[in-house]
Amino acid sequence: MVISRPRGTNDFLPDVTGKWQKLETMLRELCQQYGYKEIRTPIFEETELFSRGVGSTTDIVQKEMYTFNDHGGRSITLRPENTASACRAYLENKLYGQVQPVKLYYMGPMFRYEKPQAGRFRQFHQFGIELFGTEAPAADAEVICFAWELYRRLKIKNLQLKINSVGCPQCRPRYKQALQDFFRPHLDKLCASCQDRFERNPLRILDCKSPICQEIGNGAPLIYDFLCEECSEHFAQVQDFLRAANIDFELDPHMVRGLDYYTKTAFEIQVASIGAQSAVCGGGRYDGLIEELGGDHTPAVGFALGMERIFSALASQEDDLTVDDSIEVYIISAKNKQLKEAAFALASALRSAGISAEIELGDKSFKAQMKAADRLHAAHAVIFGEDEFAKGTAAVKDMINGGQVDIPIAELTVYLQAHRAQ
Ligand code: HAM
Repeated sequence: MVISRPRGTNDFLPDVTGKWQKLETMLRELCQQYGYKEIRTPIFEETELFSRGVGSTTDIVQKEMYTFNDHGGRSITLRPENTASACRAYLENKLYGQVQPVKLYYMGPMFRYEKPQAGRFRQFHQFGIELFGTEAPAADAEVICFAWELYRRLKIKNLQLKINSVGCPQCRPRYKQALQDFFRPHLDKLCASCQDRFERNPLRILDCKSPICQEIGNGAPLIYDFLCEECSEHFAQVQDFLRAANIDFELDPHMVRGLDYYTKTAFEIQVASIGAQSAVCGGGRYDGLIEELGGDHTPAVGFALGMERIFSALASQEDDLTVDDSIEVYIISAKNKQLKEAAFALASALRSAGISAEIELGDKSFKAQMKAADRLHAAHAVIFGEDEFAKGTAAVKDMINGGQVDIPIAELTVYLQAHRAQ
């Protein structure tokens, strides 16, 4: 029996990897323009990094991590996200000793044991940026602008940017208390998860997807009435910067996000047309995380986006990233050892000269080789025929504009270099 890939994972075949590479190039270009440098952290980390970093009471840590003991008896976890690892790397490699802010980006696979469905996988790919070392509201706005600019370049439509402030350790306890007072009389009507959240994190009840919890939550007190002066002022300034950058946003006082490390700004970008998993990106400020992981107080802000969801969003508007996978030269030869060797030598010479070239490796007919040249969208076909070969030439056919010329074999590389398709 053929072995299948694990549930919730994907094989990306050559017909899509070209698009992924194009997206990755766009992301790297944006990073260069915004001054973010790449980091690559391990795919697995000590489990404690995530239980402490992401939060021991979050769904991610409680239900979704791929955790195992290695042969040395250490508890290891496949990374469910990259922010905690970026913070660990910042601390471990003493990046706090560099000029601040430090601006990092990453992309790669993340792992969460979730219920697979459209847009939700167990191995998925995130691109993210993290900006360390400043509490300036402009930093939050810059991070949001980055995400917004990417979706603008990708021409993704119907985007909704939702922002919120989730306060800080000074003001949040008062809000938590007010929420518990509000939800207590309704406790038996809340879903099982929210009954669980009531004690440890009542803010999460606000973004529960269950219609009953949502209906009850509609009357809940709003965080904006509880923010301390610093958080309030910070939030107002983030909004001013977003307006200055002409970015449309909506305030969503119920958007809390599923990771425990957020302070002040939290945000999400959604594309309704891709269904239930509409969040294409999410992030926010996490001023306490570095300290939580043993470092000095270091403010930070960032976001991560699901790369698969970009392709879903493009597909939902019948769009896609276009990739030019044409080749420059297809070399055709008659079934004759000498000709085939000359064709083989030309293919090597062209590739050495930086020109993409394909050749029939077996003994397919002349007609089949012509077809292959068409299928691969070759700009030129070089034809080694017996008569021409006897004269020391080969025919070069312009497959785009038509026309054919005989060129001395020794000059083929130079000729093809000089006649590359633009
Ligand atoms: P997150 O909201 O858990 O945040 O994930 C960010 C994005 O990753 C989501 O908006 C979604 O597009 C994508 N994503 C998450 N889970 C899946 C899944 N199972 N399948 C497909 N796509 C998924 C974080 O991970 C934070 N580390 C973001 C952050 C960075 N905050 C500050 N800095």
